[in-house]
Amino acid sequence: MTVATMADILDLIDRTHQQMMALIDDLSEEQIRVPYGKGINPPIWELGHSAYFYEYFLLRPLYGINPLMPGYDEVWDSFDIPHRERWSPGVVPEKAEVMGYYHRVLGEVIDRLSQNNDLSDEESYLGQYVVAHQQMHLESLIWCRQTLGYPAPSFATSSVHPLPEQEVNGDAVIPAGTYFIGVPPLEPGGKSLNFSFDNERPAFEMEIDTFSISKTLVSLGEFADFVEDGGYATPEWWSFGGNYWRRQTGREAPVYWEKRDGEWIVRRFDQAVPLDPDAPMLHLSFWEAEAFSQWAGRRLPTEFEWEIAARGPKALKFPWGNEPGKAPQVAMECCPPGTAPVTAYPEGISPFGCLQMIGTAWEWTTSQYLPYPGFCVDMYAYMSTLQFGDHKTTRGGSFATSVSLARNTYRQAVFPDRTDMFTGFRTCARSPK
Ligand SMILES: [Fe+2]
Repeated sequence: MTVATMADILDLIDRTHQQMMALIDDLSEEQIRVPYGKGINPPIWELGHSAYFYEYFLLRPLYGINPLMPGYDEVWDSFDIPHRERWSPGVVPEKAEVMGYYHRVLGEVIDRLSQNNDLSDEESYLGQYVVAHQQMHLESLIWCRQTLGYPAPSFATSSVHPLPEQEVNGDAVIPAGTYFIGVPPLEPGGKSLNFSFDNERPAFEMEIDTFSISKTLVSLGEFADFVEDGGYATPEWWSFGGNYWRRQTGREAPVYWEKRDGEWIVRRFDQAVPLDPDAPMLHLSFWEAEAFSQWAGRRLPTEFEWEIAARGPKALKFPWGNEPGKAPQVAMECCPPGTAPVTAYPEGISPFGCLQMIGTAWEWTTSQYLPYPGFCVDMYAYMSTLQFGDHKTTRGGSFATSVSLARNTYRQAVFPDRTDMFTGFRTCARSPK
């Protein structure tokens, strides 16, 4: 989508709504009461919070609507409710009440947007903003399922994964030069014509030296070699932070890996399957990705190297071009999702020859999550400002990231010790080839 019209936004809202319902409706009463976990939220809270976001950032400021429910600001606003309290009985309303609120808000949003065929820049931008926020919560509902061993989403499908005609391996060499980073504003009405978050702006140019980056994500087979070589028991491969994490967690292998009768078994959602060496390595901390790179005699990319490798010399919006939806891997296309070979989907290849830069895994970079020079905060500080400084930046987008959200400039802030999200990595040569 280049220009977001009323029909575009209504369509986005509807698709996002259908997926959220699918993620909630197939959970039993017991499953929906999830145990406390640091990286997850109760699904009912995610539902109410998404609806509240529509109310707070769209209905109230644009259409002057008064708060719809007394006391809701304290329950659904992330700023106001500490994470642990989202599980407290009596704080978050029952499912039926939350569903009622959600449908009431969505109905109001659709009514208001439908009345105006010619959306103002502000309506178009805020419309995309609130639906993008709900899409982020779709992804967290999906990793919640992985965390708890629930089934993969019901809309995940199984399909054949095309492989390139010629074998893809080794590094792509990125020539030295000046490259574009970030999203340029467009005039007039720039924001609505090219939706982005505040942390992707303003754009700037960057000069870099030649570097080499792997054409493929690190696979389970490659990571298993590191594990089998005593990777977790060799402090030399780990940085100071990595060794601290290793001691704190006591990890001897990646989360969700288990050795049975001498074979590695990996859990994806509710299925524990023998390790497939061609599938992507997912669910690892920054420290594990860093240690693997050290062991392999390589290094992790910076977020700017990642972006340049994905965009190419013409600063594309997606690795495969400027139009979304061309890469089938941006979907829940394999069952369980995230298990297609790292060499699959040649049609999504980047201009420099890298595969699956969007649509399989978020990718760790060495970059601290920081504002670009000239950064201006948008209306929701939680999206970026509060996380600047102590997070790492991950790039790309996973199979659980919505198609309309993932793009080459999108930046995500993640604590380096997190293993629950759909994060993998690719590495760079220490010196260019
Ligand atoms: Fe949120």
